[in-house]
Amino acid sequence: MTPLIDPFQRAINYLRVSVTDRCDFRCVYCMSENMTFLPKKELLTLEELDRMCSTFIGMGVEKLRITGGEPLVRRDIMTFFRAMTRHLEAGTLKELTLTTNGSQLERFADALYDAGVRRVNISLDTLDEQKFADITRWGRLPQVLKGIDAAQNAGLRVKINAVALKGFNEDELFTMTDWCASRDMDLTFIEVMPMGDIGNEDRLGQYWKLSELRDELRKQFTLTDLPERTGGPARYVRIEETGQKIGFITPLTHNFCESCNRVRLTCTGELFMCLGQEDNADLRSALRNHPDSNAPLEQAIRDAILRKPKGHDFDYSRQTVDGRVSRHMSHTGG
Ligand code: GTP
Ligand code: 5AD
Ligand code: SF4
Repeated sequence: MTPLIDPFQRAINYLRVSVTDRCDFRCVYCMSENMTFLPKKELLTLEELDRMCSTFIGMGVEKLRITGGEPLVRRDIMTFFRAMTRHLEAGTLKELTLTTNGSQLERFADALYDAGVRRVNISLDTLDEQKFADITRWGRLPQVLKGIDAAQNAGLRVKINAVALKGFNEDELFTMTDWCASRDMDLTFIEVMPMGDIGNEDRLGQYWKLSELRDELRKQFTLTDLPERTGGPARYVRIEETGQKIGFITPLTHNFCESCNRVRLTCTGELFMCLGQEDNADLRSALRNHPDSNAPLEQAIRDAILRKPKGHDFDYSRQTVDGRVSRHMSHTGG
């Protein structure tokens, strides 16, 4: 089968799948306190998720990242992970992984490893218990720390994702860096993006430019830019003093869209060709209306890829939040 190539000659081999829009946290930059979630019948069933992912894998997708909301709160989600193991065993799928808030990892880490997961990205913005409770509204830090222990004990490689937030975790830059080094975990900082209505929070006030964060790090450490790319948007530096690798995801100050290799499937079967744009394709009808043939779904996927835009338009440079998208990050899974 011909691989998926978009109009800008980018090969699409990475699918991010949001398996639920629900979450057991309410991070202030991600959700409002009172979220309305989708009714169950809108969701793709686990069997439908399997059929979707398997179709993409048949079309050249080699990396599957399961996201949410919080993917591990979806009922029976391990059944889906275990179903994907067959593609790893067949060698068609190279990586099966997830992005999680860590709250359920104590329960699921071993099972994830058994299903073939080798790496998890865990979102954690602070190591201070009170601040953690404040930023996640519903989360409790000790539970997440236990989850991280469980993941490492299970043999999973852990990457911590921290959203850089002005006035919130600026003072923890070195504590978090040291903590990750001491536990041999990778660390990536993310610039906060204008996604979804989040109530009274102030996006511009939250925005901490990663170039400034980097300057802070440079005051104590020698940083060397690394050429490596994981296919993701992160750019990496090595801290010479600790040997540690730090990633920066800078959607607001840099454009990494030219090397974008990914599309995103929501839990209702919409395909978003870009995290920062509204255009999407309804794959659920193609799937549900044709239970016995994948051809219409494959055609719908090809048509959608042909509409993949050049990039997002997030922009804070004019002192206003431009390029905002209306849906929440939990809808498309980051
Ligand atoms: P690796 O496989 O470890 O490289 O992971 P990743 O960076 O692709 O995945 P992860 O879920 O850790 O992504 C971290 C965050 O980066 C996401 O939640 C988003 O906030 C942001 N991000 C990932 N991909 C994109 C993208 O294509 N565009 C934009 N604007 N942001 C992205
Ligand atoms: N801007 C940047 N990152 C965000 N995340 C959630 N909402 C936003 C936002 N508005 C991050 C989470 C997690 C990942 C899935 O996306 O912290 O690391
Ligand atoms: Fe949940 Fe992640 Fe959103 Fe926080 S950022 S509310 S953990 S989906």
